[in-house]
Amino acid sequence: MKKIGLITSGGDAPGMNAVIRAIVKRSLKEGVVPFGIVQGFQGMIENKGAELSSHDVSDIIYRGGTILRTARSAQFKTEEGINLAADFLIEQAVEGLIVIGGDGTFKGAQELSILSKIPVVGVPATIDNDINETDYTIGFDTALNTIIEAVDKIRDTANSHHRVFFVEVMGRDTGVLALHGAIACGASSVLVPEEKTDINKLVNRIKASKENESTIIIVAEGDDAGNSLAIMKSVEPLLPGYEIRHTVLGHIQRGGAPSAKDRIIGTRMGDMAIEILLNRASNSMIGYTYDTFNVSPLSQAVSKNSLPNLEMLRLVENLGN
Ligand code: F6P
Repeated sequence: MKKIGLITSGGDAPGMNAVIRAIVKRSLKEGVVPFGIVQGFQGMIENKGAELSSHDVSDIIYRGGTILRTARSAQFKTEEGINLAADFLIEQAVEGLIVIGGDGTFKGAQELSILSKIPVVGVPATIDNDINETDYTIGFDTALNTIIEAVDKIRDTANSHHRVFFVEVMGRDTGVLALHGAIACGASSVLVPEEKTDINKLVNRIKASKENESTIIIVAEGDDAGNSLAIMKSVEPLLPGYEIRHTVLGHIQRGGAPSAKDRIIGTRMGDMAIEILLNRASNSMIGYTYDTFNVSPLSQAVSKNSLPNLEMLRLVENLGN
């Protein structure tokens, strides 16, 4: 293999730069040319790519975001778009492709590989931590620490005013971040898309925590009862005398310097991705499960959604009040 392409795609995640750095450095060591494509699949369609040097990645491990930039490409989902992307890779003589991103990125890469006959290795990177065949996705630890820092601050003001706070965290389709955040912050309740929200039960839990200095409820943005504002509006009339506020943490969860864990796992996965491409031709995804790196077929990784551990929800319920 003489030339490999690499992209970051979908939502950015802290630690993506560590992966890019490792891929570039390891491929240069192996005598392989790393070809960075800007803005994910959209960049393939628009012919935006360049060979990367060691110098290009020498000062990026500590930076959040992705130096290759990223996009959610609607054009790539069309027949014309995916064909343009495949043509670009073939014209550029790319012999293997590393995709750094989430579930949607891997599904797109799988289709692109069928069309172009170019093997693909996936490196899981999304703050949502919702990919099958891996317990961990790059960016999750940093995002979780951002949530903890923010909720600790909210806790100070909530205690001072004896208030109930709904704190909304990212997770359009999954409550993994919300569950881990709720446990780490000692929240009273957590609401996730994977479990139907019962407003009356929630109201009773808030009443039961009345003696606490404050009550923190973590809400995943994709919860079935609505966003944190909507949920706050539905409980307010049922809780006269309570002071209730809501905060949406939003995109600050995606930014910032990556944690040690995201830098180390990112570096190890980037390095492994080159090894896999050099040694096997089938589409694969690198995973990290029970503190061990594993490799699984990409088709298996995208075959179903991963489910969060709902035991964690019971833990919040049992210890929250
Ligand atoms: O990165 C994943 C994710 O954070 C989801 O939890 C969230 O809904 C989505 O990205 C938001 O993405 P965008 O930046 O495109 O609005």
